[in-house]
Amino acid sequence: MSRKLRIGVLISGSGSNLQAIIDACVDGRIDGEVVFVGSDVPDVHGLERAQKANIPTFVVDYQEMGRDFTNFCECMTPSHVHKDIQDMITKSDCIVPSSITDPLKRFRWLYKRIMIENELLLNVEKFEIDLLVLAGFMRKLTAYFIDRINCGSMLPRIMNIHPALLPSFAGTNGYEDTFDHGCKAGGCTVHFVDYGEDTGPIIGQLTIPILPGDTIDMVKKRGLAQEWMLYPECIQLFAHDRLRVVENDHGRKIVVIS
Ligand code: GRF
Repeated sequence: MSRKLRIGVLISGSGSNLQAIIDACVDGRIDGEVVFVGSDVPDVHGLERAQKANIPTFVVDYQEMGRDFTNFCECMTPSHVHKDIQDMITKSDCIVPSSITDPLKRFRWLYKRIMIENELLLNVEKFEIDLLVLAGFMRKLTAYFIDRINCGSMLPRIMNIHPALLPSFAGTNGYEDTFDHGCKAGGCTVHFVDYGEDTGPIIGQLTIPILPGDTIDMVKKRGLAQEWMLYPECIQLFAHDRLRVVENDHGRKIVVIS
């Protein structure tokens, strides 16, 4: 693309991947610029990194907003919401914690999540981004949010980095799960975000060895160093329009790189 890719980044914590992306934009490994950094948690180190780089930041405090919306959502039933929202809620059922088994409670959990995501959308939409990058953002997104970000684009527009070689070890503890299973290799994956948990089309992967005598901290450190290389490379492929999502013979959506 002739102009710079406009990248929005969502974080929840230390933001070392965010830093790798900012650095890659500055030194030309990504033909793009980070136009905002949003967090679901106030006061995290990643926000300081953004401020240091003069990047606008915002916080949508999921915990606090969740508390604010609780009473309202307690009264909601599917009959209160438009059919479109009911569809979105059905599509996103897999992101509700499995500990919530009652269908009405699952509905309310998702409805509340959509209300919070509305606030997130209001912030994100101010920046007219080309790509939304999840860099240690520890919240699952509903179909409601994903569809609104992807709207009008041939290619998905949300990327995530996961600390394991997907499709193995989806979920929040990729390195720990890889290590606990006694795997002799692990790694990281960058993928587009779809409605499932870490199930979207894979863009890139790097592996790390897991050696005798390694501790989980050593594995995490080795893995993170790979993440910092992989994420900028994948974003650059997007910036250069080299990614296509196609359906393979098994009906699975995969990324083809040109
Ligand atoms: C990374 O390991 C990433 O794969 C996972 O969360 C961690 C975030 O680290 N999703 P940081 O905030 O980028 O330092």
